Amino acid sequence: MTVTDTLSAAAMPVTTDALVRVEGLRKLFPLNGGFLRQPDSFIYAVDDLSFTIPRGESLALVGESGSGKTTTGKLLVRLLDPSAGHIHMNVDGDPMDVTTLQGSQTKRFRRQVQMIFQDPYESLNPRRTIFDTVAEPLAVQGIGNVLDRQERVAEMLALVGLTPPSSYLFRFPHELSGGQRQRIAIARALIIEPAFVVADEPTSMLDVSIRTGIMKLMQDLADRLGVTYLYITHDLAVARYMSQRIAVMYLGKIVEMGDTEEVLHNPQHPYTQALLSAVPIPDPRQRRDPIPLKGSVSKPVDPAPRCRFYDRCPLAAKVCEINDHPPLEGKGAGHKVACYVVRSPRETAQAV
Ligand SMILES: Nc1ncnc2c1ncn2[C@@H]1O[C@H](COP(=O)(O)OP(=O)(O)OP(=O)(O)O)[C@@H](O)[C@H]1O
Ligand code: SF4
Ligand SMILES: [Mg+2]
Repeated sequence: MTVTDTLSAAAMPVTTDALVRVEGLRKLFPLNGGFLRQPDSFIYAVDDLSFTIPRGESLALVGESGSGKTTTGKLLVRLLDPSAGHIHMNVDGDPMDVTTLQGSQTKRFRRQVQMIFQDPYESLNPRRTIFDTVAEPLAVQGIGNVLDRQERVAEMLALVGLTPPSSYLFRFPHELSGGQRQRIAIARALIIEPAFVVADEPTSMLDVSIRTGIMKLMQDLADRLGVTYLYITHDLAVARYMSQRIAVMYLGKIVEMGDTEEVLHNPQHPYTQALLSAVPIPDPRQRRDPIPLKGSVSKPVDPAPRCRFYDRCPLAAKVCEINDHPPLEGKGAGHKVACYVVRSPRETAQAV
C-alpha cells in the first residue's frame, strides 16, 4: 500500500478540546549501571517532547526503528515513568497530571486510557479464556456483575467482527489466528470505552491481507465510541489512513509535526522528505526524487547537543554543527519543523 493508495484519509470530527498535553517529556535509560554503581551513560530514548492531542484528532507517531515511538506510547499510558516532563490528560473534564497520579485518580485514568500492542501472540495470556481476557478491564474497574460482563463482552466481540460471539467466549488464544487475536486485543482495550488508546503498530505482525480490515475496524470503533488514538507506525500510508495529525520522530526527538495531509504533501524536514521519497508511487508522473540517507539509525547514547539528524542529513551545514538541536518551530497552519535550513524535497535531493 502507498500513500497515494485508495484508502482515504481519516475523517473524524475536529475539536480544539485538548485530551492530552505533553510538556518537556524525557525518558533516559541508564547503561552499565547496577547495584551501588552509577550508570556510565544514558540512552536518550525520548528527549524533550512537547505536543498536544486534541480530543477526536488521532495522532500518528512515525519514524524508523529505535526512534522512541514505543517509549513515548508507554509513557503516555504510564507503563513507564518519565525521567522528566509532564503529561496532562483531560479525564471527564477533569485535567490530571499523569506523572503524579495517586489513589482514585489512578483508577479513573486507567478507565480512560488503554494500549494495544504490536504482537497479538504475546499480549494475550494463553491460560485465560477470551471471555476472561476481554472482561478483565471491566473486572478491574468493578463494572457490572458477571451477567452484565458476559453481555458486554458478547457485544464487543460482535463489534470487532468475531461472530457468533458465543463460539469465541470460552476459547483460548492459541485456538485463534493472529488477526482474530488482534481483534480480541482491540475488544479488550475498547470495552471500557476509553477516551484515549495508544496503538503500537497493531497491524505490523499480521498478514498483509488482513491489515486493512483491522485498520478499518479501529477507525470504525473510534468513530462509534469516540476514541482518540496515538497510532504508532513506521508506515506512512497507515499513518495517513489512521490519523488527522502526524509527528515524525528521529532519535528521541519530534522533527516535524502537523496535519497529516499537509505534512505528507508538503514535507519540510529532510528526514520526512527522505522517508516519503522511499515510498513507492505507482504513477510515474508523481514520482519523487530519491533522497537516500547515509548510514543507519544509531542509538542516542549521550548524544551531542547538535541536531540529532546531523550525521545523516544531506543539508547539514555549519549552523547545524555549532548550535543545539533546532527547536520545533511553527511554519503556519499548525505545521512545525525542527530544522535550521529547510529546503524543498527537490533541493534536498539535489544536495545528496
Ligand atoms: N527498557 C529499555 N532499556 C534500555 N533501552 C531501551 C529500553 N526500551 C527502549 N530502549 C531504547 O530506547 C530507544 C527507543 O526505543 P523504542 O522501542 O521506543 O523505539 P521504537 O521507535 O518503538 O522502535 P521500533 O520501531 O523498533 O519499535 C532505542 O534505542 C531502544 O534500544
Ligand atoms: S538542522 Fe541541519 S542537520 Fe538538522 S535536519 Fe536541518 S539541515 Fe539537517
Ligand atoms: Mg516500537
